[in-house]
This record gives sequence, C-alpha cells and structure tokens, in this order.
Amino acid sequence: MAAMPDSLDAVWNHAWARLLAGARGRGDPFHQGVLANASEDGPQARYAVLRAVDPDGGRVAFHTDRRSPKLAQLQADPRVAWVFFGHGEQLRLSGTVQLHLDDAEADAAWAATRLLSRRTYAVPLAPGTPVDFPADAGLTGLGAAPPGADAQARARGHFALARLTLDSLDWLSLASEGHRRARFRREGGRWQGTWLSP
Ligand SMILES: Cc1cc2nc3c(=O)[nH]c(=O)nc-3n(C[C@H](O)[C@H](O)[C@H](O)COP(=O)(O)O)c2cc1C
Repeated sequence: MAAMPDSLDAVWNHAWARLLAGARGRGDPFHQGVLANASEDGPQARYAVLRAVDPDGGRVAFHTDRRSPKLAQLQADPRVAWVFFGHGEQLRLSGTVQLHLDDAEADAAWAATRLLSRRTYAVPLAPGTPVDFPADAGLTGLGAAPPGADAQARARGHFALARLTLDSLDWLSLASEGHRRARFRREGGRWQGTWLSP
C-alpha cells in the first residue's frame, strides 16, 4: 500500500484501494465492516462482508438472507452507515441501499457465490429465530458437504444482494506522524472532498 496520502485525490484513491483489497481478501481487515441502520427499535449494527466495490459508481455491496430482520428494516428505511477499520485507518461509508432479490443483478451475485457459502441460505429457519439448542438451527458444520440442487434452489430464494450507493465517505488515519481526516460528499452528482480536523 502507498505511503500516507498527501492530497485529497490521493486519499480518495487510497480509500477505494483499501475497499477493493478488502473485497478481494478474506484475511484483509476491510473484508468486513460494521453495518448500521435505523429500525423501529432504535439503531441496529452488525458485521457484514464487503462483497463488491465499484469506485467509479461510488457503490459497494453486501449479501444477506432476505428473511433476516435487517431486510424489512432496510425496506422501511434504506439509509445505512458501514464502518471499517484496519491498517490504522477508519473508513465510514454512508448512503442508500438498493435491494436486489429476484432480478438479474441478484442472479449474477448468486452465481459468483461459493458453493459452501450457499449452505447458510438453505437453512429452514430465518436468522434470529429462537431455538432450544444450537444444533436445532440446522446449520451443518464447516466440514459438511456442499448443498445439493434442491437445497441450492431453496437457498437462492433466501438470498438478497444489497447495493449501497454512497453519498459520503469519511477517512481517518491515526498515525504517530499526525492524525489525518478527510471527507468526501456527493453533491449534485460530483464528489467534493475536504480535510477535516480529526
Ligand atoms: C465477520 C462477520 C461477517 C458477517 N457477514 C455477514 C454478511 O455479509 N451478511 C449478513 O447478512 N450477515 C453477516 N454476518 C452476520 C450478521 O452480523 C448478523 O448476525 C446477521 O446478519 C443478523 O443480523 P440482523 O438480525 O440485524 O438482520 C456476519 C457476521 C460476522 C461476525
């Protein structure tokens, strides 16, 4: 990774490079971040894996089970914040989520998923359903065989692609040579950046 970025353009490119590396690498700290949204019960936050990054469109994406509580929450209010930390840097993304359930975009995202990841979408119970014992949730161990055709079809019916169109990106670097913070906002279709006091 390049040295500490010295210009707003360099910060912008640096931040997107961090996100691209996060989406690619399972061991990268930016592979997952805390995704926050509003709900009738107050704020909600949980980790989600960064699945796709589109610097030109200012968009990122995650996958989720459409039966999970967050799906209905996002249908009611699609605004989210997604926060990442790694390499001494915090990245705060915020914007609006568009949900893709049964369209071509969701099909393409599903086609790119790993066979073993599909198992989590095939379980009969919605995420968050109370069970008497962990085994009752029906998720087989990590060593289990990949799902067959029936289970995969069922799993596809539970899968959702959530694409976030950013309206703000806030980068904070904590470094011994001096903390730095910059924020970029999409205004009238153009990104405007400014340095901020950390
Ligand atoms: C490292 C990590 C990555 C996760 N990635 C996802 C993800 O990409 N999508 C997702 O729906 N849940 C993911 N989860 C599970 C969520 O954090 C959460 O427990 C689940 O989605 C239920 O959230 P909800 O009740 O707010 O809908 C992940 C959890 C961890 C710990």
